[in-house]
Amino acid sequence: MRFEPASRIAGALRPPPDKSISHRAALVAAMCEEPVRVVNFLRADDTASTAAAIRTLGAVAELGESGSAGADLAIRGVGLRGAGSSDGDIDVGNAGTLMRLLPGWLAGQGRGHWTLDGDKSIRRRPMDRIADPLRAMGASVECREGRFAPVVIDGRELHGADHELPIASAQVKSCLLLAGLLAKGSTTVAEPQRTRDHTEIMLRNAGARVEVEGERVAVAPVERLVLDEVAVPGDFSSAAFFVVAATLVAGSELAITDSGLNPTRTGLLDVMVRMGANIEREDAPHDGGEAVGDLTVRSAPLRATTVEPGEVPLLIDELPLVALLGAFADGTTVVRGAEELRQKESDRIATVTDGLRGLGASIEATSDGFEVEGIGALRGGTIDSRGDHRLAMLGAVAGAASQRGVEVRGFEAAAVSYPGFAADLELVT
Ligand code: S3P
Repeated sequence: MRFEPASRIAGALRPPPDKSISHRAALVAAMCEEPVRVVNFLRADDTASTAAAIRTLGAVAELGESGSAGADLAIRGVGLRGAGSSDGDIDVGNAGTLMRLLPGWLAGQGRGHWTLDGDKSIRRRPMDRIADPLRAMGASVECREGRFAPVVIDGRELHGADHELPIASAQVKSCLLLAGLLAKGSTTVAEPQRTRDHTEIMLRNAGARVEVEGERVAVAPVERLVLDEVAVPGDFSSAAFFVVAATLVAGSELAITDSGLNPTRTGLLDVMVRMGANIEREDAPHDGGEAVGDLTVRSAPLRATTVEPGEVPLLIDELPLVALLGAFADGTTVVRGAEELRQKESDRIATVTDGLRGLGASIEATSDGFEVEGIGALRGGTIDSRGDHRLAMLGAVAGAASQRGVEVRGFEAAAVSYPGFAADLELVT
């Protein structure tokens, strides 16, 4: 797919429903006994895997009225302790969030046997980071070579534990909080840095006792979860591609409406404002505990910045975009403390630096991030998504901001989180 230089980015756009929150809504709804309506559930490859997984476990999940990117999903769950065994493997596809959250629920079922597997990318991502702490709670979880999918789980009685995570990860934290709902005694999870808190917000809405003290989250066991309705806000991580496009393409003015603005997700805005970006923000009243609002983005010249390790979790999925911003900024942009990028859908330190260098950027990988020397423009060329949705969309935005356009090989990977991306880009160019 080819993306030509854009003369400007203008108009208004509503980002697709949040992927992280959609995964959690389907899983937590499946844990309830009473029906739950998920409004604006993301219709994309990743979240289709989650809907299929809960159906395999015995839940009913029916798609209702649908918009272009989201749909109503009516879920009748199986109850917190009612997940049914599955004969075949549960296929998570490309979805790391499903792969890491679901075992937390299944491990605490008193019985049952499950095997979770996924695509090539899932099979290279570390799963010992959930298996080890779950085992400390009494779980039976086995990984291939002790570390990778497939992951085999036998349901057991769990006991609470105090976890100190060596790596900040919302997926691992969420997995252990779900297990904690079913364990005897309380469970706490401490992280080196704060990560996205969608699980905490949703579990609280469902009646669980979740308390946060600094970087430590505590959850108490619960009899049942009750969730009436979940309204999924727009995905800031999807909106981010357009925030960056409108900043880089001269003469742009873009309104982004109904985006999630949870502060554990919007680190990119702080980094961009530091770089000199022109972003206006209007907060709306909170919806179910999640911050939402509108953004207006106008193009602006940028100066380089350094992203420090402490802020990395707040923009973990947007760091590829920081690399692109850095190529246009005045000075050298540095990202440090982001070695976790190597464990994402692709090794994003390698794929982002190789990919953008191929388009004319002056960028070098480091052990824990990258350094980009701003050259004020990008030539263009060809980039391969390497099956990574965020790399596919990065290539498209690079094309819009480039001098000669960009061809993205494997662009179809974008459907993992944002099937309508190319159409939306066309709408605003
Ligand atoms: C996610 C958490 C992050 C993020 C991923 C989605 C989630 O991963 O990169 O895209 O939904 O909890 P980690 O928690 O592994 O950092």
